[in-house]
This record gives sequence, structure tokens and C-alpha cells, in this order.
Amino acid sequence: MRKYHQFAFIILTIFGLLASCSQQEKKYRIGVSQCSDDIWRDKQNSELQIGAYFHDNVDLRFAVAYDSDERQIQQIDSLVEAGIDLLIVAPNQVSTISPAIDRAYDKGIPVIVFERKTNTKKYTAYMGADNYEMGHLMGEYVATRLDERGRIIEVMGLKGSSPAIERHNGFRKAIAQHPGIQVVATLQGDWTEPTAYNTVKQWISKNKGEKIDLVFGMNDRTAMGARKAFEEAGEALPLFCGIDGLPGENGGIRQVMDSLLDASYIYPTHGDQVLQLAVDILEGKPYEKETKLMSALVTQENARVLLMESEEIMRQSHYLEQLHEKASQYLDQLGNQRTLTFVALAAIFLLLALLVGIYMYYLQRARIQDERMLMEREQLDFYTQVSHDLRTPLTLIEGPLAQLAETPDLQHASEETSNLFSIVRRNTHNLTQLINKMLDVQVGGRKPDMTSEEIDAMTVQQAVNAPAGEGLIDEDASTVLIVDDNADIRAYLRTILQDKYHLLEAEDGQRGLEIAREQVPDLIVSDVMMPVMNGLEFCQQVKKDDISCHIPVILLTARALDKHQIEGYESGADAYITKPFSPDLLKARIDNLLQSRHQLKDLWAAMPATEPAATEPVTSPAPIEDPFIARFKQLVEERLADSSLSVEDLAAGMGMSRVQLYRKVKALTGSTPVDLLRKARLAQAQRLLQQSDLSVSEIAYQVGFASPSYFTKCYKDEFGTVPGEARKTN
Ligand code: FRU
Repeated sequence: MRKYHQFAFIILTIFGLLASCSQQEKKYRIGVSQCSDDIWRDKQNSELQIGAYFHDNVDLRFAVAYDSDERQIQQIDSLVEAGIDLLIVAPNQVSTISPAIDRAYDKGIPVIVFERKTNTKKYTAYMGADNYEMGHLMGEYVATRLDERGRIIEVMGLKGSSPAIERHNGFRKAIAQHPGIQVVATLQGDWTEPTAYNTVKQWISKNKGEKIDLVFGMNDRTAMGARKAFEEAGEALPLFCGIDGLPGENGGIRQVMDSLLDASYIYPTHGDQVLQLAVDILEGKPYEKETKLMSALVTQENARVLLMESEEIMRQSHYLEQLHEKASQYLDQLGNQRTLTFVALAAIFLLLALLVGIYMYYLQRARIQDERMLMEREQLDFYTQVSHDLRTPLTLIEGPLAQLAETPDLQHASEETSNLFSIVRRNTHNLTQLINKMLDVQVGGRKPDMTSEEIDAMTVQQAVNAPAGEGLIDEDASTVLIVDDNADIRAYLRTILQDKYHLLEAEDGQRGLEIAREQVPDLIVSDVMMPVMNGLEFCQQVKKDDISCHIPVILLTARALDKHQIEGYESGADAYITKPFSPDLLKARIDNLLQSRHQLKDLWAAMPATEPAATEPVTSPAPIEDPFIARFKQLVEERLADSSLSVEDLAAGMGMSRVQLYRKVKALTGSTPVDLLRKARLAQAQRLLQQSDLSVSEIAYQVGFASPSYFTKCYKDEFGTVPGEARKTN
């Protein structure tokens, strides 16, 4: 799973990089510190904003001090703190704001001072109109307007702010050139209309009836405040002049046009130009340190034209703003779509990563499962081996003990010897049980438990089944092949089986196979775990071979699990007995298997005798047709008439040795090949007697008898009547 996490992390990182690569280049954060909030500042701010529209990488932050020094200082410090890249500042007063501007400048932040000045040299550039010249021109205008004669009032801007000082100086310098013009009062304002209104109102109330020809307010709002005071006082209205000359409904140009003001002076805002200067500085382009903005007088004569022009400009600006809004909407949409695309791609990649992860997880699980199965198999093999190693000697202790118990020596032994013998038997049995339990716990298999009573019962059984006439064995007794690598087990099996069967022995599967083919035993008892060729392989080979395939195989093994038994039966075994085993059980199983073979051969052998009137040839198919027997019958039928036909000829015809043929035929049919040949001849003769007109002698020769008298004898032995009788019944 860790690999999967690494994979997902790499994919996400690639995505992050791709996303960041597609972002804009570095953003410039520009702080704008405005001293006041009024329509002149509004116009300038929106021009700054429009200027910024032309630069995607500019982020503007506005701060308004509302004519307060402290607030402006604090705001400049905050902007610097926030990490602005450049400061644009209109300082409220010349000296008060300088420390904050110096601090910003000293931190390496470029500073543009615009419109109002400071008393420090720590700024990068200055942009603004020439306020002295503006005041001077206004002085000249007033003198001309009043025909060099008149009384005027001057209402100042905020004390300490540079435009107020410079406009005053310019104005007074010009007025001084005209001795007919008398400045009756210089009143202190602060650029706002209410302050101008109040100061002028106070002056009027103190100087009632004094004739005034013109009031010069240092901006249009101040001039309008003064006008309001005069109007309210009901005094004869003088002329009012101001500065700013703003477009719009409440702007100075309209006020001049409407004759509320006599004249104004356009005080240029040019926010877009200030913004361009800022970008030039930030981008390291060349720029002017001091930029003087051009200006113009607004009078009754040009007000209409100027208003139209400025309103056209405002309309265009408005249009521009709308365009920008539309464009940014589209850009937003585009951005959203791009984000959506990225999200979709990321989701697909994540999904892929997830699929890979799940795949890897399953691979790993499968591997672990394989390893676990391998471990379990190895463990099972180990315990199977241990089981085999323990059960074999236990068999060799338990079995002989059981046999010993039946000997006269022990049956007549002293009580002490009997007790000791019982202790040995009981504990041997306990040991067997313990080992069985231990192996069951380890491999999860199940073995039947045998109680002490069962042992006793087994002993009684053995006593009942004890073989009579030991050592004497019937010639016709079946032959059993014992295959086991353990000589003790072979010896023990010999003691159990030798009284009843002829025995053959082999120490591994390979040797067992050779003996099985050569000697064709009637039954095989084989161990499973053996060197060279194990019992399963051996059993398979026995069942595969034409000569040995009919031989029943009993697997006798310590491999007690169901799964092992299944393996045994799959290899073709006819019975499976686990160690330690009961000798009687083994003998019963052997008898049973041999018996079932005899049943088959009896059935076959009886056929011709029980169906004497059958019209089919002797070679008619048996109900359970063994391929070997079918082949043998065919061979016999083909060569029936040949009186010199020997068993060797038949064996050669079947592709085996005489012994092999004899034992195989005997095992399957219970008769010898010679017997079968004779029976076939007689059956054919019987058929001919019933169906042909041939003489008995002719028939005898035709079915391969060399002498008719011998034929008659054999016929009588087989069917109980002489051949002539068959003729008669026909
Ligand atoms: C705007 C304003 C103008 C004036 C200028 C002087 O804030 O008061 O009316 O001309 O500032 O700096």
C-alpha cells in the first residue's frame, strides 16, 4: 500500500506543478493611501482601477484616511506590513505623514507621491499639477474678471497641505501685481464644503453690509460652501471661483456652466497615468522622477464644451468598465472551466491511481495467500512426515504386543507379569492417542479415538480370528505383495499374513512394480511414503499396466488426513488403511477384496454351463466385459480348431509370459487358460452338435481335439452327458 501512496503523491505533485505553471506570473500588490474621500478622489480611484485593468498582474489595495493624519499613518504602516510592492500616497499634510512614508521607503518599497507633497526626499517619483501656477493663473483671472478693481475673500484649503500653501502663494503673488484688487479676508478652510460654509458665514455675520466682489475658494467645494453662506445671509452675491473643475452632475464644470461658480480650474486626477508610472517602476522600466500634469481654466465660455468632452470621456470610461466587467466574467468562466478540467483530470488520475492501488493490493493479497498456502503445505508435509515416523514404530509396538497377548506364555504368565504387560499395552495405547491428538491439533485433521474398551474388544477379536494351523498354507492360496521400505513393518506384516497367503516383498514402489508385473500377485499392500517411487505413484503405475491393472491395491499408511485418503483413492487404490492399524481389519479388507474378485470370475466361468442352449458362440460378450478378457476370448475363438495350440502360444498372442497370462486369467476368471481353452472348445462342439450334421468325430477334430475318445470324456466331464445325447435332444 505504501507504493500506492507514493504513486498518488507523485501524480498530485505533477498536477500541482502543472496548475501552478498555468498561473499568472508574479502579482504586484500596490497600496493606495488616499488622504480624503470625495468626488475628486472617487474619480481618481476609478482611473487607477481602470489603469490596473490593463495589467493582469496588478492587485490594488485602497486605504482612505478621511482627512486624518493619524489614520493615514496607521494605514500606510498596515499596507507595508501586508507586504505591498509599491505605495502610492496623497499625504494629508506636508510634514505629518512623512515618517510613515520614510518607513515604507526605507524598507525598499518604491513610493509614488501624487498631487500633495511631503517634506521628505524619500520617495521614488512625484506626479501632480503645479498648484503654485494654478493659484497664480487664478489670481490673474480674478484681476481681469474684476477689471483690476474689487474686494475679494480667499478661503484656504487644509492648513499644512501642500496645494493649499502653493495655491495661496501663487494667488497672492498674482494679486499683488494688481493694486486695485484688495484681499479683504483670508479665511481658513480644510477643503470641505461645510467648513467653508461655516467660516464664511461667521465672517459675514461679523462684517454685515460689507461689499465683496469675489470669493476664491481653493477648491470648488469650498467655493460652493461660501456661496451657500452668502445666499443664506441674503447678502448681494459676489462671484465665486474654485479649483478642481470636475465633470459630472455635482462637478465644477457644470457649476460654472450653471453660473453657480464664475470659474474653476481643472485639477487633473489622471489615476491611470499614476498606475502606469507604478508599473513602470515595478518592472524596472525607465520613468520620470517628477511629472507635472497639465491643466486648464474653466470659464463661462468653455464650460459647455469642456462638460461635453468630459462627459464623453466619462461615458467612454463607463463603457470601458463594462467591457472589463464582461471580459472578467468571461475570464472567470474560462478559469472555472479550466479548474473544472483540472479537477476532472485529477479525478481521472486519482481513479487510475486507485485502480492501480486496488490491483496492487489484490496482487499482494494473492501473494500472501500463496505464501500462506505454501507454508501450510510445508507444515502439513512436516507433520505428515512426523506422523509417519511416529506411527510406524507405534504400529510395530502395538501390533506385536497384541499378538504376544495371545501367546500361551503370556496367557499362563504370573499375575505380576500380566500386570506389567497390561501396563505396557495401556501406555502404548495412551501414547498413540496422545500422538494422534497432537497431530490433529497441529494439522486440523480428525482421527477416531479408541477407548481402552475398544482395545480390549480388539484383543478379543484377535483371539477369535487367530489363525489355525500356523505354518501350513494351501497351494491355491492367494499371493499378496507387500511393498514397504521399513523392514520391521514388512516383518510384522509377514507375521500377520504368512499363515494365509503366499507373500512377495518389495522395499519401494519401483521394485514393487517389477514384481507386480513379473509375478502378477492377487493383491498388493503398499506403504505410501517410500524412497525411489512412492506408494501413490506405484499404485497409479500398477493400475495403468495391462498386466497388473486388475490387482487390488491396499494403501497402508500413516497419512491419516481426509485429503491424503482422497489422494490415495485418486491414484486408483482400492482401500486405504491408516497406521497404527488393526491386523484383523487388514486381513478382513484383504479377504473382502479377494472375494469380490472371485465373485467376478465365478460369474464368467459359469456362463457356458448355465446356458447350454445358447446359440451365441462361446465368445459372446460377458455382462462385465474386461478388455483383457475380451481380447483373450477373441484369440481363443480364432485359434480354436488348432489342436496343437498351447498356453505359450496364447501368452505370445496376448503379448505376455506364460506366468503372467496364467496368473492374470486365473485372477480374473478363476480358471486357468488351459481350462478356458477346453471349455471354449466344448461349448463350440455343443453348438455344432445341435446345429450341424457333422459326426461327433468330425466335430471333435473341428474344435481342436486330437482324439474323439478324449473329446467324449471331456464333454461328459463338462456337461454331464455324452455328445451323442446332445444329438438326440436336437
Ligand atoms: C480632493 C481635494 C481637491 C483639492 C485637492 C487638494 O481631496 O480636496 O478638492 O483640489 O484635494 O489636494
